Amino acid sequence: MTDRGSLPHPTAVRLARYTKTEQSEILGDGPDPFGVAEAGLTWLPKEDHFGVRQGDRLVAHAGLLRLPLSIGGVDTEFMGVGGVAVAPDVRGRGLARLVLTAALDHARTTGLHHALLFCRPLLVPLYERLGWRTLDEDVHVEQPGGTVKMPLPTMTIPLRADAHRPDGPVHLRSLPM
Ligand SMILES: CC(C)(COP(=O)(O)OP(=O)(O)OC[C@H]1O[C@@H](n2cnc3c(N)ncnc32)[C@H](O)[C@@H]1OP(=O)(O)O)[C@@H](O)C(=O)NCCC(=O)NCCS
Repeated sequence: MTDRGSLPHPTAVRLARYTKTEQSEILGDGPDPFGVAEAGLTWLPKEDHFGVRQGDRLVAHAGLLRLPLSIGGVDTEFMGVGGVAVAPDVRGRGLARLVLTAALDHARTTGLHHALLFCRPLLVPLYERLGWRTLDEDVHVEQPGGTVKMPLPTMTIPLRADAHRPDGPVHLRSLPM
C-alpha cells in the first residue's frame, strides 16, 4: 500500500512535448482552464516546457517563450512564462514553485535578464510570494486585430542579480504567451 509519506520527492524535468493532451492531463478538458477567457485574447503556445510527474501522471507544467518587446522605446527581449498549471488534487503542495523554479533556472541559461507573465488578479499574491512583481506601467500587446492594452496584471522577475529594467510603457511586439 502506498501512502503520501512513501511517495518519492517530486522533481521537475524538461518535457519533450507538451500538447493539448498533456494540458488536459493536468487541468482536464474544461472550456477555460486558466480562467482568462473573459479577456478575449489570442495567446501563443510556449516553446520550452517543464513538468512534474507523479508516477506516470503529469501533474504540473510551466512553459517558456522568448518575447520581443520594447520598454520606453528601447527594444529588448524578456522570457515569457505561461501555461503554469498544477492538477487540482495536488495544489497547495509547492508544485507551482517547483516547476517555475526549473523553468526560471533554464531561462537564466539563455542570457536574458528578465521574465514576464500575465495572470489573473487573484493570482498576484501567489506570484508575489514567488518573487514576481507587478508592472505599474501600461502594457500593450499584439492581437490579430491590432495592438490592445493588456487587461490582465503583468508581472516580472529578474533573472540576474545585475538585471536592470528600463522605465516606460511596455509594448509586447507579439501575441501574449
Ligand atoms: C496557480 C496554480 C498553478 C498554483 O499551483 P500550486 O501548486 O497550488 O502552487 P504552490 O503550492 O506551489 O504555491 C506557490 C506559493 O504561493 C503561495 N500561495 C498560494 N496561494 C497564495 C495566496 N492566495 N496568497 C499568497 N501566497 C499564496 C504558496 O504558499 C506557495 O508559497 P510557499 O512555497 O512559500 O509556501 C494552480 O492553482 C493552478 O494550476 N491553477 C489553474 C491554472 C492557472 O490559473 N494557472 C496560472 C496561469 S498564470
